[in-house]
Amino acid sequence: MKNTPVDYDVVKRKVAESGLTNLGTATIREILKLVSQIELETGVKYVRMEMGVPGLPSPQIAIDAEIDSLTKGVSAYYPNIEGITPLKEETSRFVKLFLDLDIDPRGCIPTVGSMMGSMVSFLVANRNNRTKEGTLFLDPGFPVQKQQVKMLGHDYYSFDIYEHRGAKLHEKLESFLVTGKISSILYSNPNNPTWMCLNDEELEIIGELSRKYDVIVIEDLAYFGMDFRKDFSVPGEAPFQPTVGKYTDDYIILVSSSKIFSYAGQRIGMMAISDHLYDRQYPDLLRYYSTDKFGHSMVYGALYGLSAGVTHSTQFGLATLLKAVNDGTYKFMDEVREYGEKAHIMKSLFTANGFEIPYDMDLEEPLADGFYFTISYPGMTSTLLLEELLCYGISAISLEITGSKRNDGLRACVSHVSRNQFGDLESRLKMFNNDHPVKKN
Ligand SMILES: Cc1ncc(COP(=O)(O)O)c(C=O)c1O
Repeated sequence: MKNTPVDYDVVKRKVAESGLTNLGTATIREILKLVSQIELETGVKYVRMEMGVPGLPSPQIAIDAEIDSLTKGVSAYYPNIEGITPLKEETSRFVKLFLDLDIDPRGCIPTVGSMMGSMVSFLVANRNNRTKEGTLFLDPGFPVQKQQVKMLGHDYYSFDIYEHRGAKLHEKLESFLVTGKISSILYSNPNNPTWMCLNDEELEIIGELSRKYDVIVIEDLAYFGMDFRKDFSVPGEAPFQPTVGKYTDDYIILVSSSKIFSYAGQRIGMMAISDHLYDRQYPDLLRYYSTDKFGHSMVYGALYGLSAGVTHSTQFGLATLLKAVNDGTYKFMDEVREYGEKAHIMKSLFTANGFEIPYDMDLEEPLADGFYFTISYPGMTSTLLLEELLCYGISAISLEITGSKRNDGLRACVSHVSRNQFGDLESRLKMFNNDHPVKKN
């Protein structure tokens, strides 16, 4: 028997009982369940880094607005599918003030989390041309979006962009688009899981090629503004969060409220469809929807068919919060900066104990510290590393499920690790490092 912080035999038994034959390909929720069961049986509290949950309280102003709307009786009525007017207007203002883009409130539509935003986008963007096949993911990425594409029966393509940053992105991206099979491109910026941040040069390349090959860009800004190397926090003042909207006409921006506003439980996100795309007509849409108009198909086709709108009171909560953000009276970036500070400390604990950061650079610049970072350990595959770390009371997910080219990395999420666990994390990592001496060449 090995002497590890969590009983080695219990971990092995629980892994076997879970039926997960390979932890390297297990989903986030499967790892979450496994770790919760081990915690329950052993009583050892894990340093849990597997799931991207906010870890901060929701803003009171939003909660109060929700309660107020419920008291006034909104729960009795179906919400407008397009979204309530104040939310549409504040979303359009937000897009102007923080992205410097003009998008009419008409195209600013709430969805049940950004999860639904990507789902409806696939449902329409991937069906606008019968000769095309599906989405190109700029990976590593958020695995569930590929699951959505698969559920819909669309094809998808992907490549790991780490080796194709900067001007090199042009050739690689074009090699996919030239096939004529790509309907949409999706990426997150900052990137979940690596925290790479695409810059204006790269966004311009994506924009230029999307125009050339008539492809819709879905820009997922779930971690809006969280490149803490720059200050994107002042409404209406540069610098602004970089966006492809500066470089193309046909795009959809997804802004999740889950992380930036700690509003994950309310399942509401914002989708902003560019004016140009909203008005475009695609005859092939008539195969699925009653109209060939993109915007109309999104709202009265896909969204209607999925949920007929978003919870009424939640829309009032988010509208009120967004107004405060836009007016500059609620400074959301001040709240989430804590993630970057924790990441800085946690990364140093890992690297001081033999770990490496496989995705460590944004071109010539070290990556920002943010919500996620990546780790690897010399000589170990991601599956082995994950299994071993579980015995040391540390959980994460494998990069293998994210479309990464690497088979030796894990994604670590900082949000659910509290500062008072840093001591445990450090001692467990030290023990791990002692028990797994790194061979020197
Ligand atoms: C990149 C990315 N996109 C979308 C989402 C989903 O966001 P939501 O909670 O708004 O559905 C997440 C959540 O982790 C994410 O990381």
